[in-house]
Amino acid sequence: MTLATVAVVGGTGDFGLALAQRLAGAGVDVVVGSRDAERAREKAAEAGAARGAANAEAVRGVDLVVLAVKADAALSTAADLAGAIGETPVLSVASELRFTKTGVHPTEDPRSIAERTQELLRGPVVAGLHSLAAASLAGGKADGDALVCGDDAEAKELALELAGKVVAGRALDAGPLTSARALEGMTAVIVNLNRRYRGHAGVRIVGL
Ligand SMILES: NC(=O)c1ccc[n+]([C@@H]2O[C@H](COP(=O)([O-])OP(=O)(O)OC[C@H]3O[C@@H](n4cnc5c(N)ncnc54)[C@H](OP(=O)(O)O)[C@@H]3O)[C@@H](O)[C@H]2O)c1
Repeated sequence: MTLATVAVVGGTGDFGLALAQRLAGAGVDVVVGSRDAERAREKAAEAGAARGAANAEAVRGVDLVVLAVKADAALSTAADLAGAIGETPVLSVASELRFTKTGVHPTEDPRSIAERTQELLRGPVVAGLHSLAAASLAGGKADGDALVCGDDAEAKELALELAGKVVAGRALDAGPLTSARALEGMTAVIVNLNRRYRGHAGVRIVGL
């Protein structure tokens, strides 16, 4: 299967909009999703995407759904859209972070958001792109590599194909869905780096 159509749920946000822009620029038929259909249409026009629609409409008939809503709404959104998404593969990009006076920490939940999302959906969930800063993606292909993990080989291939279109580096298979625990945790490291050094850090894997 090759990637022809992608829905970006929450494609009105910083990350989803930048992703939609890059994918549309690469020739992918992108549907921007929002809780508000009118906002989805406005942002789709801004991104050069094929169309915008309410989330439940946006996910119908696409090859891959990217769940790009605000992280603390990822699970409730997945639950709300489970019927509309059906068996379509889903790419989870969310990381659950705790912001405290001592810095940014990963979630205390032992399981990743991606694994918990999988429990809510019939189709396969893969996870990735956590290390791509929205600000970097907004300017063009993001610097560095994109890491993708998942248990379903076909879904992971689709997500790797998507990742390859939006990074300057490589799209790399990081193993099973449990790797999302590390990928999501790495986001806390990246946000701490960004705060300390004032930048938009990414990740580059060496030795491969
Ligand atoms: N920002 C980054 O650099 C970055 C990098 C990698 C991964 N990510 C991940 O990408 C996802 C989006 O990040 P972001 O920075 O783009 O977030 P954001 O701008 O705060 O939110 C994205 C979209 O989520 C939707 N949303 C907000 N609250 C919601 C709710 N209660 N229920 C359902 N939808 C809601 C909104 O869309 P509507 O109001 O239009 O429905 C909003 O435009 C997160 O999971 C984040 O972890 C972000």
